[in-house]
Amino acid sequence: MKFSQRAQAISPFYAMAFGEKAAKLEAQGKHVVKLNLGEPDFGAPPDVLKAMQKLADNADLPYTSALGLPELRQAIANFYQTTHQVYINPQRIVITAGASAALLLLSAALVDEGDQVIMADPCYPCNQEFIKSFAGKVQLVPTGAGSHFQLNKALLAQHWQSDTRGLMLATPSNPTGTAVAEVDLLAMCEFARSKGAWRIVDEIYLNLHHGDADRQPKSVLCFDEQAIVVNSFSKYFGMTGWRLGWCVVPQEMVEVMERLAQNYFICPSTVAQKAALQCFTTRSISVCESRRQTLIARKNLILAGLKKCGLPVPVEPDGAFYVYIDVSATGLTAMNFCERVLQEVFVALTPSNDFSEQGDKQFVRLSFASAESELEEGLKRLGTFMQSLI
Ligand SMILES: Cc1ncc(COP(=O)(O)O)c(C=O)c1O
Repeated sequence: MKFSQRAQAISPFYAMAFGEKAAKLEAQGKHVVKLNLGEPDFGAPPDVLKAMQKLADNADLPYTSALGLPELRQAIANFYQTTHQVYINPQRIVITAGASAALLLLSAALVDEGDQVIMADPCYPCNQEFIKSFAGKVQLVPTGAGSHFQLNKALLAQHWQSDTRGLMLATPSNPTGTAVAEVDLLAMCEFARSKGAWRIVDEIYLNLHHGDADRQPKSVLCFDEQAIVVNSFSKYFGMTGWRLGWCVVPQEMVEVMERLAQNYFICPSTVAQKAALQCFTTRSISVCESRRQTLIARKNLILAGLKKCGLPVPVEPDGAFYVYIDVSATGLTAMNFCERVLQEVFVALTPSNDFSEQGDKQFVRLSFASAESELEEGLKRLGTFMQSLI
């Protein structure tokens, strides 16, 4: 069978590939500590699960509007009001099958052949594939610890080209967990807007910030009304497998998003949407907030443990559940490091090859979304591995 050139050009997702290798080792009876996937171990809040159980007895689960259930769009608008003190017209909210479907729809809506889209290196790898699927060109801007692995206005201005049509960024980001400071985000959005370019800001980890509860970082929508925001039920609400997310688009984009969503998906999962209404109750939010605190405690455990092992994390994360470890002092490439750690001490990690094209590939992403006991065991094994290199 002949596959399309675009399909053949799609890169593998090494986080998944290491997951498969880990599964093979587990099938041979090994206990693998899996720190390779960005998936919180909490699951959905209890009230969401209860709602799902009730819905399972209900045969009446028809398609919803392609843009999603009006009640859920309203609940999300209310969430912006209470969390970010910003009014969003619910009509601008498009419910999708995870942030992934939102990113796909947005790429379909915005990208023409040859359009350049600028993003940081390292970044979430799937974005590049979405852009390339619509014949756009990805312009990766190398970033390092000095700029917290994020873009800033100076880097944008330096790398901007005449055919750059859009800016994509995530704050906090995957793989580093580092956030863009509000002042930098504002400056970058202003710069892109002055060039007539669109801005997609992925805020999937924004509510999983590591600051105090009253220091919730603001959505970009608070200061750039025309920015496009992507978000999801996967991470903060712990609902990865439910496949539910959303985006907020400018009013003028709603109609094109609706046509695309009708054709590509008909609608997001009805049962997931109905159950997700329970995400926004005071009870569910307080569950999610206490889980956020748990993630902060896990971060502290991991940072202290990695330091002891001699594995530096050049920039500590501001949110999410990732650390980006510099393994260059081991003399191993990121890929070799991950291969050896998996085969020798049974810990699954993700090499920077997934997120970065920067030559030396010296970083490894560790996800601390797993239970403390697994993190402790993982740290012990990494310590043993590091000792074996001496
Ligand atoms: C930055 C970022 N955006 C989008 C996604 C996709 O998430 P979803 O499960 O909502 O499709 C992920 C998943 O890890 C991510 O890290």
